[in-house]
Amino acid sequence: MRDQATGTAPGKLILAGEHAVVYGHPAVAVAVNRGTTVQLRRRPGPTRVERAILHDARLHEAMLALLPPEGVGVHIESSLPVGRGMGSSAALAIALARAWFTLQGQEPDFQQLHEAGFKVERVFHGNPSGIDHAVAAIEGAVRYRNLPDGPEIEPLTVPSLELVVLDSGLAGDTRLLVQRVRDQRLVLQPVIAEIGALAERFIEALEMSAPPEVLGHMMTENHALLGRLGVSTVNLDRLARFALDAGAHGAKLAGAGGGGVVIALVDDPELLLRAAGKAGVPAFSVTVGG
Ligand code: PMV
Repeated sequence: MRDQATGTAPGKLILAGEHAVVYGHPAVAVAVNRGTTVQLRRRPGPTRVERAILHDARLHEAMLALLPPEGVGVHIESSLPVGRGMGSSAALAIALARAWFTLQGQEPDFQQLHEAGFKVERVFHGNPSGIDHAVAAIEGAVRYRNLPDGPEIEPLTVPSLELVVLDSGLAGDTRLLVQRVRDQRLVLQPVIAEIGALAERFIEALEMSAPPEVLGHMMTENHALLGRLGVSTVNLDRLARFALDAGAHGAKLAGAGGGGVVIALVDDPELLLRAAGKAGVPAFSVTVGG
């Protein structure tokens, strides 16, 4: 019997379609080169998180969604900012599931991993669409649809894209924002449908390796629609404007909104990173796809 095991999983960025994905529309998300590692060790006594980067009251409950109440010590490391729409809880869920299967000497298939990750994700997000942990499990790009009979998950080949992530410094509350949209669903229906249609066009453009100007324009359009959905903020709008003024091809909030990050599609990350540095905006670059 193994007495320790490690699992890793990447974070993600949603390039198009957040919120509308909750209602069955397609969305596209990509894995980023940052992620989470979970190490499990058998130990006497109650299962316990011995080391963690995040101190969330739900962490213990989330661990127990998969682990037994006795006998496991958990160490968590992550290079993902928490609560910023970069899929930190999904990366944690999938890294935990991978480590737990390995500790038991099992090799899960995608379905098992996805289902195990969902149990953990639900503790943090209530009833998420599942896109975050699909990306974490696939470790690549996906076209995702949340359908009544289960998710439709299609791995995508995405051209290499240079993104700059601008951090609002505030955590967005995904559960709350999804609920707020749900409460106004009837009124917001046309905007939700527009986001879904845009995401579909964005996926087609990605598959045809459309130039970054075209992709960027759609990202900016997606941001405006998320604004109409009521999930952007003055700060996020300002960050998106800042990126465009600094020469980005396009910019949008990524994730549930209310805080979190804005992503900007650029040719040369250095230019925007330098501008962000001067303006005191925390920023970093990620390469996705390719
Ligand atoms: O976890 P976040 O903040 O990246 O948001 C996930 C995207 C939503 O579409 C807003 C919610 C969901 O469950 O898909």
